[in-house]
Amino acid sequence: MILVIFGASGDLTSRKLIPALFSLKMQNMLPERFAVLGTGRTHFSDDGFREKMKESIHHFSIEESPDHRMIDDFAGCLYYLPMENTLAAEYEKLGNMLNRLNSIYNMGGDYIFYLATPPSLYTVISGNLAKAGLAMQSAGIRRFIIEKPFGYDLKSARELNRILHEIIDESQIYRIDHYLGKETVQNVLVTRFANGIFEPLWNRNYIHRIEITSAESIGVERRGGYYDSAGALRDMVQNHLLQMVGLTAMEPPSSLEPDAIRNEVLKVFQSFQPMKEADVPGQVIKGQYTASKVRGEFIKGYRSEEGIPENSRTETYVAMKFFINNWRWGGVPFYIRTGKRMPTSVTEIVIHFKRTPHYLFQREPGVLASNQLILRIQPDEGILLKFDVKEPGSGFNVKNVNMDFHYSELAHLRAPSAYERLLYGVMTGDSTLFLRDDEVEIAWKFLEPVQSAWVKNSEIKVYGYPAGTWGPDVSGRLFEGCGYTWRYPCKNLADEGEYCEL
Ligand code: BG6
Repeated sequence: MILVIFGASGDLTSRKLIPALFSLKMQNMLPERFAVLGTGRTHFSDDGFREKMKESIHHFSIEESPDHRMIDDFAGCLYYLPMENTLAAEYEKLGNMLNRLNSIYNMGGDYIFYLATPPSLYTVISGNLAKAGLAMQSAGIRRFIIEKPFGYDLKSARELNRILHEIIDESQIYRIDHYLGKETVQNVLVTRFANGIFEPLWNRNYIHRIEITSAESIGVERRGGYYDSAGALRDMVQNHLLQMVGLTAMEPPSSLEPDAIRNEVLKVFQSFQPMKEADVPGQVIKGQYTASKVRGEFIKGYRSEEGIPENSRTETYVAMKFFINNWRWGGVPFYIRTGKRMPTSVTEIVIHFKRTPHYLFQREPGVLASNQLILRIQPDEGILLKFDVKEPGSGFNVKNVNMDFHYSELAHLRAPSAYERLLYGVMTGDSTLFLRDDEVEIAWKFLEPVQSAWVKNSEIKVYGYPAGTWGPDVSGRLFEGCGYTWRYPCKNLADEGEYCEL
């Protein structure tokens, strides 16, 4: 099998793809005869590319002290072809190179094409591959991996699907959402459907609300050009956050077959209560980080980052409240938020259970409900259940305590990286962890009123928040009249509090 990477000189290849392939090699999970062909506009020789990739493995591999000989051995299967991938004529060169590799390794011509390029090139590259006769499945395996963002809005995603479907079959397309490759995201399904104690409570009768946070302490780094045209809604909400909502809210699938799971996620997306443009200001909060000092260090505001216009209105923070109109979830609010330059990097799903109908005891001040189940995606991966116990002493004073499981306790088990799982999935033709055309489109459809209200209604504010804080205060407005607010998670699963890391 040959993995062809378009955009091989980019960050994704060195930070994620090559280290993940190296890990697969270490686990003996690569095909016996296997080569990687990097392509891109930058000129590298095969050896130059190998040296650069060896450095990436040293920097970014999750393997503990990777062995030099193993790295050299792996690097031997890396090749590079400088090419202008927008030009159809260049694909003859690519075809010749693939033939050469097939004969060196005595392979039968099975290819995976990884499009790690700007989205505008997805249809161009696929079209050129098809014209060169390289996309036809009858000649061998032909799978296409497409990175996010898949489209820019509903219209462009539909158009992208339409063009791709003219060139290749849906079964050849593997749309990436790397969150689906995370162990802890998959564990949402196991927690829900392997344990008899949770499922009976997993509905509107016992659950008060669901909260999903994906916070990052980093800013936009060197991705200003891309980020300013995307913003947090496209970069995180349309994909990673909605997928987590899908897995948390879905019905039990009939099996673990890819379509059985994806059909259930699709049904959740189809049940989103449609938002009206007029509701957007009340249901969706848009924020952008401003300059600040965090732990003594000066942090630039978003508008002063490289590649960002000084009057940019792009959001680096989104918080929203919405409902799912079905029997399981009718009336249960879902609160989701994501942002850059938050106090810490943490992703978690919090299930807030309803209060008991009549509370007999003296409660700790400020604690409104006793029971929360927290599915921690990262870091300090694990599960935390919060419940009330009697405080020792006279009377019936109650204390809210934690019962927690940390994945680090399974120290003997190695957790593969998301890209490792995803690449392995494509190699084995398992599309469970990839997005289907209808899923992507419906996720965009749900967000369409938000995108359109933000464009049309200049009254909608982009609220500033100082870097290193939990986003604009005004996001608390989503809870108006409820008497509760966001959970403020810390790096350690068991701790919480707005300022606990400072
Ligand atoms: C990517 C976004 O999809 O996910 C980035 O483009 C974001 O902006 C990243 O930083 C977060 O991924 P993770 O795995 O670090 O939570």
